[in-house]
Amino acid sequence: MHPKLRAEDLYPTMMPEPAPTLKQLLAFYLEAGVDCALSDEPVNRLAELEPVPAAPPREVAPLPRAQRDMPLAAPAVPRSEITVAPDAAIASAREAARTAPTLEALRTLLENFDGCALRHTATKLVFADGNPAARVMFVGEAPGRDEDIEGLPFVGRSGKLLDRMIAAIGLDRSKAYIANVIPWRPPGNRTPTPQETQVCLPFIQRQIELVNPDVLVTLGNPSTQALIGTREGIMRTRGKWVDYDTGTRVIRAIATFHPAYLLRSPSYKRMSWQDLRAIAKVLGQQSSPSS
Ligand code: URA
Repeated sequence: MHPKLRAEDLYPTMMPEPAPTLKQLLAFYLEAGVDCALSDEPVNRLAELEPVPAAPPREVAPLPRAQRDMPLAAPAVPRSEITVAPDAAIASAREAARTAPTLEALRTLLENFDGCALRHTATKLVFADGNPAARVMFVGEAPGRDEDIEGLPFVGRSGKLLDRMIAAIGLDRSKAYIANVIPWRPPGNRTPTPQETQVCLPFIQRQIELVNPDVLVTLGNPSTQALIGTREGIMRTRGKWVDYDTGTRVIRAIATFHPAYLLRSPSYKRMSWQDLRAIAKVLGQQSSPSS
């Protein structure tokens, strides 16, 4: 070897990298969507795993750099989080939801339902808020951080805007019912997977049937696509009345922008106002004069 060259000059990646600082580690977690602690004590998920029979040795290709540099390997799914197979979970959700005679029974069913892994990472079930006897029901996508902590839908920033939207048509939470398609917060507010949506769908459908509102309002694309069954985007679906079959009767449904979207794109508040006026008209409510 050339006297001036050291091994680390030739093979820089072979040298151990310094351990990340706490700040770097937290920054990594934040980037990966981990923005809150689930409990005060760490849980060794690997210790909960059932012993897996040793696989025969095989050649393993080296990991790409991006994966090697991760401070933590993605943990295997612990035993407590292994849920029923996807199709079985959807079938059991349909069966369970169908049998719930009341909203309270439906809530209890969801609290004990093991077919959706989101319940293991969420802090609380976010079932609903408002008046189950209301004539109008609003349905969002999934709870966020604030909702997960309080166990109530739409209590964070977008919830405050939803309250103002509801107030604009002369109502408040005592005269409206609010729920989500997914009743558990997806970790780090990630988008729910199609599988998670399909598993949770029978429960929100049954919830709508039991509340039996005169008007159903879907907030944003995901809840509109899940409940109305359209593949079109919110720009096309919003503001148009469609029939929604609850299972016991056909009610009027309308899609409008999600309040979180309006917070990001306030210029769409104008269109949202048109939708709210249409809702107020059908409900026979007086809408406030300004947008
Ligand atoms: N966004 C939703 O879709 N639902 C909530 O409950 C909160 C934010």
